[in-house]
Amino acid sequence: MASVEQAQAALNAVQDAGSGRSLIELGWIQQTRIVEDRAVFRLALPGFAQSQRDRIAAEAKAALLALEGINDVQIELDQPSGGAPIGAAGHGQGPERGQLPERQPIPGVSQVIAVSSGKGGVGKSTVAVNLACALAASGLKVGLLDADIYGPNAPTMLGVADRTPEVSGEGAQQVMKPIETCGIAMVSMGLLIQENQPVIWRGPMLNGIIRQFLYQVDWGERDVLIVDLPPGTGDAQLTIAQAVPMAGAIIVTTPQLVSLADARRGLAMFLQMGVDVLGVVENMSVFIPPDAPDKRYALFGSGGGSRLAEEAGVPLLAELPLEMPVREGGDAGRPVVLSHPDSISARGFLALAHQLSAAHLVPA
Ligand SMILES: Nc1ncnc2c1ncn2[C@@H]1O[C@H](COP(=O)(O)OP(=O)(O)O)[C@@H](O)[C@H]1O
Ligand SMILES: [Mg+2]
Repeated sequence: MASVEQAQAALNAVQDAGSGRSLIELGWIQQTRIVEDRAVFRLALPGFAQSQRDRIAAEAKAALLALEGINDVQIELDQPSGGAPIGAAGHGQGPERGQLPERQPIPGVSQVIAVSSGKGGVGKSTVAVNLACALAASGLKVGLLDADIYGPNAPTMLGVADRTPEVSGEGAQQVMKPIETCGIAMVSMGLLIQENQPVIWRGPMLNGIIRQFLYQVDWGERDVLIVDLPPGTGDAQLTIAQAVPMAGAIIVTTPQLVSLADARRGLAMFLQMGVDVLGVVENMSVFIPPDAPDKRYALFGSGGGSRLAEEAGVPLLAELPLEMPVREGGDAGRPVVLSHPDSISARGFLALAHQLSAAHLVPA
């Protein structure tokens, strides 16, 4: 006869498709118990995860029925609407909701746009930094939050790696001043992982650090906050998507078809969490050799960006070339938009900024 612990261990394998986290850990599966030969648990899915319900129910049932002595599975749905139970007779008990807390806007920040990708190294930070600079060049008040806590690149790309932000206040009231550079206000873990850093920013939880970057930074008045995410569909994506209302996310990909599967996962995660995907940016579309600027080489193949955009029914916002000044600008701390404003890449970033602000930032 299986124990409750065994039932929980079996259920621990059932995961949220978006974050890959166990539903028990997320608190979406609760109150597991065994009644004679029947396993019973409560399923409390937040609104954005309701589409996973049937899959989760099927996986949970299969996992539990595989246990010795379990012949029946009952799932109590915990929904505001008091949905019917799946499986054997039982009551779907309502309305203590499994809903997550409401998203909380950042005072003074009008819009938030996240820059994400399935894979690392596709140019997410390059796009985030240049997009932020291009938006600022168009006259908007722009913030940049580098949410890549373990691999922060924005400070180097913006030439501020040696600066330390001012922190004022005590404890939970501590507030950090963003670094002003290239016409934007930015924060990054890269500014804090030096000696003498204030303790509050050393929190072990990525989730907590990102929330501090959102809510304990004196962002001032910002037309838009660009968030540079780490690659993939992990905790940073989850935290941002759950914490703050967003205009939407941009997915960066290379044209390579093999990286499409990752990009698709990233895109699907945002949609599943109720975050709009504003479009796809294809980076490194073609290589433009510096000594033969009329030539184009499709180093990474072609078609990835447009295929992804088409599949998801979202616009292909830009196709940016692979150009030496982009990499040089990133390493030198002077984004290509500012260092080579006439280059094809810089013009691509400016056009991207223009499109986004016309569609999502400038009030009608
Ligand atoms: N369009 C481009 N042309 C030239 N180099 C690029 C381009 N996009 C990115 N890079 C370079 O590729 C490297 C990875 O880019 P990065 O923006 O850090 O990727 P990610 O944030 O997705 O990991 C960096 O050295 C960057 O300068
Ligand atoms: Mg990056």
